[in-house]
Amino acid sequence: MTLVAGVGLLLFNSCSTTDRTVVVPLQIAGATFAGDKACADCHEKITRVFPASPHARLHLENGQLPGQSGCESCHGPGSKHIALGGRGGLEKFIVNPGKDPQACFQCHAEVQTEFHFPQHHPVLEGKMNCVQCHDPHGADILKPAGGLAMSRLNETCAQCHREQTRPFIYEHPALREGCTACHSSHGSINAKMLTAPDSNLCLRCHAQVAGPAASGRIYIGGRDHTSSMAFGSCWTAGCHAAVHGSNIHPILLY
Ligand code: HEC
Ligand code: HEC
Ligand code: HEC
Ligand code: HEC
Ligand code: HEC
Ligand code: HEC
Ligand code: HEC
Repeated sequence: MTLVAGVGLLLFNSCSTTDRTVVVPLQIAGATFAGDKACADCHEKITRVFPASPHARLHLENGQLPGQSGCESCHGPGSKHIALGGRGGLEKFIVNPGKDPQACFQCHAEVQTEFHFPQHHPVLEGKMNCVQCHDPHGADILKPAGGLAMSRLNETCAQCHREQTRPFIYEHPALREGCTACHSSHGSINAKMLTAPDSNLCLRCHAQVAGPAASGRIYIGGRDHTSSMAFGSCWTAGCHAAVHGSNIHPILLY
């Protein structure tokens, strides 16, 4: 590890196989790292749930990162915040990544890239933030912060997308696999943040079967789709346009 003019290049080795490079750990003028125990004095509730968070498992390959604790990897060095008893210049003396996601991008550069894709959730624009979908402190990081009783992935999306998550008489069973079966959650190069731009999105689960040799027919879901294939994507108007579900039609036409 080299330290050049306060700029450290630290390699985290998590319990998973991912290595993440931290370029420039968070800095707060004049402050030093105080350690997780120091936070417990005043933020007992968070300190109690934190050990179950994936971020609590962060560790360095060769022992501890000097002075930098779990809490401070996201909140920056806390000594000045503590000395002031949390009062006087919250903005200045402690980092809150709920207001600015830059702290997360130190280690999740690939996520930052996703938010730059042409179709993306407006996080970098400041209209949304990571904690609307991720609980930064608790065990279930895919739950939004704020103690909402949400257990399924889709319910995270349902906070804001009522139209797609309301009950349908004919629900598309694909939704049971989660919205992310078809949508990227951060950003995508495809319209509507789809994981594939064309009918391949659907054919992953609905096999396309060739008819008897030389007939040239194509079957999907046991039905002859030979002429339908010319229309474009499976969800073109007039076809399965009600991809999320329908109250009228079992094969999701409207
Ligand atoms: C001496 C008590 C005390 C200690 C120790 C302490 N804090 Fe705080 N902290 C406060 C108070 C008071 C507030 C403001 C009220 C609140 O949000 O609870 C606060 C607020 C915060 C906030 C919210 C900032 C914002 O922008 O709203 C964060 C983040 C935070 N503390 C992190 C930490 C971390 C990390 C540690 C350990 C390094 C720590 N605190 C140690 C008292 C303390
Ligand atoms: C993965 C990054 C991350 C880690 C690690 C982390 N926090 Fe936070 N913390 C956040 C984010 C993001 C928010 C904003 C949450 C929100 O706005 O709902 C936050 C908010 C807070 C707040 C103020 C809001 C509140 O819920 O009271 C306090 C206090 C706090 N954290 C303390 C801690 C302590 C203490 C630890 C270690 C035990 C810790 N944090 C570890 C990311 C983190
Ligand atoms: C100091 C580096 C660091 C910072 C800062 C950081 N993370 Fe992480 N994060 C990691 C590592 C390393 C893992 C992998 C942990 C594991 O797999 O056990 C991880 C895991 C995650 C996961 C779960 C990924 C999975 O595959 O289950 C999410 C979600 C996440 N981080 C979001 C955030 C958010 C949101 C923030 C900012 C509030 C943030 N992280 C800040 C290093 C960091
Ligand atoms: C609209 C909801 C939403 C927002 C906002 C969001 N995420 Fe995610 N994120 C998810 C979901 C859902 C997954 C799981 C993806 C999957 O299973 O395909 C995920 C996965 C992750 C992962 C692990 C997988 C990966 O892509 O590396 C990390 C790390 C992560 N998010 C970090 C962040 C950070 C940092 C922010 C804020 C800058 C953020 N997320 C904002 C919904 C969101
Ligand atoms: C906190 C609110 C919020 C949450 C939670 C949320 N979204 Fe979004 N979503 C938005 C906003 C805001 C936009 C941008 C809308 C716009 O630009 O018109 C958006 C856009 C989208 C779009 C593109 C819509 C279009 O017309 O191009 C899709 C698809 C989408 N979100 C899916 C998801 C999925 C999947 C989840 C869960 C992983 C999710 N959203 C969670 C607020 C949210
Ligand atoms: C089977 C694949 C699939 C699944 C699963 C899925 N979607 Fe979609 N979604 C699509 C397709 C395809 C479109 C584009 C429809 C179009 O362009 O007419 C779309 C469009 C959207 C839009 C944009 C709507 C608009 O009017 O432009 C939002 C928002 C959205 N989906 C949210 C969600 C949410 C939230 C979930 C989970 C509850 C989800 N989707 C699950 C395939 C899916
Ligand atoms: C994650 C897997 C998955 C994806 C992706 C998926 N589906 Fe489905 N879909 C299912 C399952 C499971 C069923 C119920 C069993 C069946 O009919 O095959 C179903 C049923 C249907 C039905 C009703 C069929 C019937 O005969 O009753 C239609 C129509 C449909 N899907 C269209 C689509 C379209 C259009 C797409 C692409 C936008 C798509 N599906 C993507 C899993 C998926």
